[in-house]
Amino acid sequence: MSKKVLVLPGDGIGPEIIAEAVKVLNLANEKYNLDLELVEGELGGAAIDKHGVPLADSTLALAREVDAVLLGAVGGPKWDTIEKSIRPERGLLKIRSELGLFANLRPAILYPQLADASSLKPEVVSGLDILIVRELTGGIYFGTPRDQVVLENGERKAFDTLPYSESEIRRIARVGFDMAMVRNKKLCSVDKANVLASSQLWREVVEEVAKDYPEVELSHMYVDNAAMQLVRAPKQFDVVVTDNMFGDILSDEASMLTGSIGMLPSASLDSNNKGMYEPCHGSAPDIAGKGLANPLATILSVSMMLRYSFSQAGAADAIEQAVSDVLDQGLRTGDIMSEGMRKVGTAEMGDAVVAALQQL
Ligand code: NAD
Ligand code: IPM
Ligand code: MN
Repeated sequence: MSKKVLVLPGDGIGPEIIAEAVKVLNLANEKYNLDLELVEGELGGAAIDKHGVPLADSTLALAREVDAVLLGAVGGPKWDTIEKSIRPERGLLKIRSELGLFANLRPAILYPQLADASSLKPEVVSGLDILIVRELTGGIYFGTPRDQVVLENGERKAFDTLPYSESEIRRIARVGFDMAMVRNKKLCSVDKANVLASSQLWREVVEEVAKDYPEVELSHMYVDNAAMQLVRAPKQFDVVVTDNMFGDILSDEASMLTGSIGMLPSASLDSNNKGMYEPCHGSAPDIAGKGLANPLATILSVSMMLRYSFSQAGAADAIEQAVSDVLDQGLRTGDIMSEGMRKVGTAEMGDAVVAALQQL
């Protein structure tokens, strides 16, 4: 029986990068007999425009039914001033939460061809391969009471809440340790345990889980130091496990080590490896509609989908190889451009990956 993938292009550059990723997915589908069926829906601003809400019940029902979701990005100035409970970003948070996608894997890998595109010195980043495991359905993004503004002493006061339960910490810690076990058996847990109660519990629970993984070398680091160490000596890290907000920030920072945020894919998984796959970047309103966006993060997210949701490691490896081949050919979108390379647009980059995959 065929497996279904729900494609949600979203807003801004979302439809542009998804068009390229879908070309690659369609070719992989044919070439490796994956028997995948693609269906399309709306999320974010596109859903607000069509359904009046950023995630329609019918789309959520479809998302529950399919085997994997491929997402572009959501949000943009058009919807920044609407009532905050129906902002585009709320649709994204809702689909993550409703599908139970608590484990967000964000691999920051430097393709050697892009050493010159990174804002750091080549020797600092060469060979970089780190995995950020971000908790995705808890913490300050979802804690209650949240998102409230009250009047206190004649002025407005706003607050959010940062809770973590033991079970939430334990399950994401396990993902961190499991990933460390299949990589280099090194895990760094990042928190703010010198200040936050949620981080103190985080550290305790991570230590408890560590007892089941005696082979993994565990370290702890405060998030401010981690932000600094990531640009000072990023290769000291292998797997990093951290909370929702710290992971959001550190992964954008880590993306620049790989040349551009346009290179960073992600997988958001539930406990059964059902997943949603999306680039780490946003809808990039500043370059939307111009054919300038780098589609590689989304194409690499397709590769993660084939690896994690469909156990098609061969097809996933081939997509990564095709991306590498295109970089070898010297093709670069503006965000990863460097001297002597050939600048291309979104579609030309996608077509080149398709052609490279065809050759494999
Ligand atoms: P952004 O990631 O959209 O853009 C930041 C910068 O990176 C911009 O200069 C942009 O041009 C550049 N950039 C991003 N992706 C690129 C790509 N593929 N190729 C080349 N350059 C790229 O972040 P932002 O500007 O802070 O946010 C814009 C909107 O996106 C906001 O509405 C925000 O809420 C939303 N957002 C959505 C997601 C998501 O859907 N997962 C993630 C982050 C931000
Ligand atoms: C991301 C984004 C989202 C997040 C926003 C758009 C809700 O920044 O996927 O990294 O903060 O998780
Ligand atoms: Mn982010």
